[in-house]
Amino acid sequence: EKGGHKHFMHKEIWEQPRAIADTLRGRMLLSEGDIHFEGWNLSPEKARAISKVTILACGTSWHSGVAGKHMIESLARLPVEVELASEFRYRDPIVDSSHLAIAISQSGETADTLAAFKEAKRRGATAMAICNVMGSAMTREADISVLTNAGPEIGVASTKAFTTQLVTLYMLAIKLGRMRGTLTVKQAQEHLTHLTEIPKMIEDVLKCEPSVKRVARDFMNSQDFLFLGRGPMHPVALEGALKLKEISYIHAEGYAGGEMKHGPIALIDEKMPVVVIAPKQPHVAYEKIIGNIEEVRARGGKVIAIIDEDDAHVSSLADHVIRIPPACALLAPVVATIPLQLLAYHVAEMRGNDVDQPRNLAKSVTVE
Ligand code: F6R
Repeated sequence: EKGGHKHFMHKEIWEQPRAIADTLRGRMLLSEGDIHFEGWNLSPEKARAISKVTILACGTSWHSGVAGKHMIESLARLPVEVELASEFRYRDPIVDSSHLAIAISQSGETADTLAAFKEAKRRGATAMAICNVMGSAMTREADISVLTNAGPEIGVASTKAFTTQLVTLYMLAIKLGRMRGTLTVKQAQEHLTHLTEIPKMIEDVLKCEPSVKRVARDFMNSQDFLFLGRGPMHPVALEGALKLKEISYIHAEGYAGGEMKHGPIALIDEKMPVVVIAPKQPHVAYEKIIGNIEEVRARGGKVIAIIDEDDAHVSSLADHVIRIPPACALLAPVVATIPLQLLAYHVAEMRGNDVDQPRNLAKSVTVE
């Protein structure tokens, strides 16, 4: 059932080209420059009247929400707040009937997300669920459900659920952008074209596994890791750190690159590996991230850089490089996440950990 893979997590990492193709299937209307979601019942008037989007999620799904904020703000020009579902309900959140509340959840059963979702709905928001499990509690609660279609995810550490959430959020941003008139047909067609390229790009990026394994071998005994990314790569840094700590039990932190000088720089010494996610894109402030790399090097830290295939500059600065195919800025998180999933997997596997059943964690957290 693991299809020749040692662990479900490894199988699920490698399934991502197929999973993402399934997420896209039947939904991209290229000639119209639009997206078709089954069961979509948001009227054009309502779509135009939305004043704010509130994303509610936990863990990895919260990270996809942070990336989704960049997508929805950029393509649909709507303000987006990304809330930790476990915090949302315990204050007096500002919600009204012009708000769209989006719960993001692989399982659709996470107690905190469900409770926050119900609370947003009770206060009048339109409730949309982005879930991987049809018929789950969240899809039953929702006014509109959009499925990620990743197929069952068995490994406790979320992989294909995350990347299919990213792709779904991108489609949603296009859909809302079209309905609200912030995207022309032509612009939407360009975005759809970017999406169609993603499964092949994931296939290509999976070829980095041998170089990721070398990095894993070099750093498997490190005590701490830092992950840095800017703009849409910030949630990728958070996700890279979460994946590593969940299954390798190595302490890891993800930071927005610009925050390094405000604290974490104090941690850097010769023992500290720093994974810098640095594809060459305007949103990601490439020059600034190079500045981060230089700051790490000046303190003797070890730099592992995730860079574009054709990048010659960073490769001369970093101790290790992992090359990825260049995607557009908003979709680059889908591609850049893959080497970080593989890094966490191989470090954990080399340390002899139970990758699919990490200690203290459950696949679906049904307690608040
Ligand atoms: C991380 C992980 C958790 C889940 C979180 C939310 O690998 O699996 O952080 O992402 O518990 O779960 P869902 O998405 O099912 O609501």
